[in-house]
Amino acid sequence: MALQIKSFEEYEEKYRKSVENPEAFWADIAEYFYWQKKWDKVLEWNFSEPKIEWFKGAKLNITENIFDRQLSKIGDKKAIIWEPNNPGEQEKNYTYRELYEKVCEFANGLRALGIQKGDRVCIYLPMIPELAVAVLACARIGAVHSVVFAGFSATALSDRVNDAQAKLVITADGLNRGAKQIPLKSVVDDALKNCTSVAHVIVYDCLGSAINKTDKDLSWEEVIQGQPKECPAESMDAEDMLFILYTSGSTGKPKGVVHTCGGYMVYTAYSFQNVYQYEPEDVYWCTADIGWITGHSYILYGPLLSGATSVMFEGIPTYPDAGRFWQVIDKYKVNQFLTAPTAIRSLMAYGEDYVKPYDLTSLKVIGTVGEPINSEAWHWYHELIGKGNCPVVDNWWQTETGGIMISGLGNFSPLKPTFAGYPLPGIQPALLNQDGSEITEADIEGYLCIKAPWPSMLRTTYGDHERCRVTYFSHYDGYYFTGDGAKRDKNGMYRIIGRIDDVINVSGHRFGTAEIENAINEDELVIESAVVGYPHPVKGQSIYAFVVCEHEVTETTDARKRILETVTREIGKIALPDKIQFVSGLPKTRSGKIMRRILRKVAEGDTANLGDTSTLLDPAVVDEIVKNAL
Ligand code: WTA
Repeated sequence: MALQIKSFEEYEEKYRKSVENPEAFWADIAEYFYWQKKWDKVLEWNFSEPKIEWFKGAKLNITENIFDRQLSKIGDKKAIIWEPNNPGEQEKNYTYRELYEKVCEFANGLRALGIQKGDRVCIYLPMIPELAVAVLACARIGAVHSVVFAGFSATALSDRVNDAQAKLVITADGLNRGAKQIPLKSVVDDALKNCTSVAHVIVYDCLGSAINKTDKDLSWEEVIQGQPKECPAESMDAEDMLFILYTSGSTGKPKGVVHTCGGYMVYTAYSFQNVYQYEPEDVYWCTADIGWITGHSYILYGPLLSGATSVMFEGIPTYPDAGRFWQVIDKYKVNQFLTAPTAIRSLMAYGEDYVKPYDLTSLKVIGTVGEPINSEAWHWYHELIGKGNCPVVDNWWQTETGGIMISGLGNFSPLKPTFAGYPLPGIQPALLNQDGSEITEADIEGYLCIKAPWPSMLRTTYGDHERCRVTYFSHYDGYYFTGDGAKRDKNGMYRIIGRIDDVINVSGHRFGTAEIENAINEDELVIESAVVGYPHPVKGQSIYAFVVCEHEVTETTDARKRILETVTREIGKIALPDKIQFVSGLPKTRSGKIMRRILRKVAEGDTANLGDTSTLLDPAVVDEIVKNAL
């Protein structure tokens, strides 16, 4: 592959060049792509506004780089292999040409509905091929896609539709999830009661189930009816928006992270080819959902821009049994595999018998992403799945970074369990002390920041640039602040410790404590609440809620049930607390700030050492909380 580094020495050499002269380095890589017009300037930036512009003045369309640029060479190669939820059902294969035609046809349908460059389109679909088609069709015509994970509730969906002022929602009647079928269209109907911007809803018939048809609804079939299978690509400026993806932060409602066309294209392809060392005949599989950034960058854009065959999986790791992943790897002779630590830990718990029947010798590189991986899971993955001879590449990055930032590359980077490893070329991490000074010694924990721009970094948070500045660029002057704590060993390898802000990472999904508290507080029984994360053996972290109710909670179970229902309605089942403790008050400072440090210790079961509680407004509250801790 054209962009690949092939040895650790070459990595070191490229890394040095990328720091010494980033513009020359990235210009060279950008030459690999097809630009309708080349850039006037590779990079212009400051982190104070912030303003970051890559390949300024260039014109391109990312889908021309996936399709038009490659069709003559790999038109007949499989672009997507779709593996259904039910192993008894037939898989679907799409060659680059077939996918291109589907994308064009749907893109023409969108244009016919009046969707234009810059319009926002909300995509709320299951992991079916139409999701890939919808995303790429938006990119083809320059519409901004905002994919919302299909596990989010009606309220969460309407918040995102409203924030983006989406004109169109694309959904399905429902989805398959293991043995269950879950309705989606009815969630959209609920959500849209509060959304005035939406003119149309396109519904794909996934389950053949009945839906309530509204006057905004159009079927997928109707939209593509009679549309040509060629569609001229919209000419996009390198800095035009490609997509919005909502993610949780430590404060307020989720924010719409904005990625732009040129830099995102260059970096996702570059990082994919290097981290996974994809070769032209390989089959690559990332088990993420396209509702999250990993699916955007490493199921769709990165692999497809590289001409890869990318497996897309509709199902879950444990259906029909805990051997499902390994069976699919065997079935397609998967060469590169990427999953999350939470999946590894959950499958590990089922035991080796689910792995043994399958031939996993096709694997060359296995990856992990989304949360820190513990040593036990790392070894299980390395030894049992990788048979001890596949490198485990631990990919550290974020929705905001657009692509993998710190990771091993293929089979030549040094491996160290639980360490993500070295920064990719072009990525300049720094560990900072609280006072903003850089930590230069080894093995000291600090705040992980990035001190120079990289092509796929976020440009803004949709509709609120100030929020982007405050969240990421105001903590330390001249640095992008990640919200993660990390340390570096004497060889320069990074280990990510986890979030240092009020973000909880449950099974690799991010939630702000404030977001969950707001949801709980919606219940009229509740006066206030505080939510913290605590370690969980499978999910990484789990949610513990301390809740103050209006009246003494006698029928505890009923209040609990109501709160669970409220969170399900406001965010979705994925954000449900595992533990709810009813308390008479929360530990607060005299200025009224909740002392989360104390609540975190209680949740972790570490109550022997709560530190000084004498400065609290009401120290007695702590005794009660400790006594009744769950
Ligand atoms: C965490 C997912 C340790 C981290 C791509 C980060 C990780 C947040 C790793 C971003 C990893 C992600 N090791 N922690 N390899 N990858 N994280 O936006 O706390 O869903 O800030 O992006 O997940 O989550 P997001």
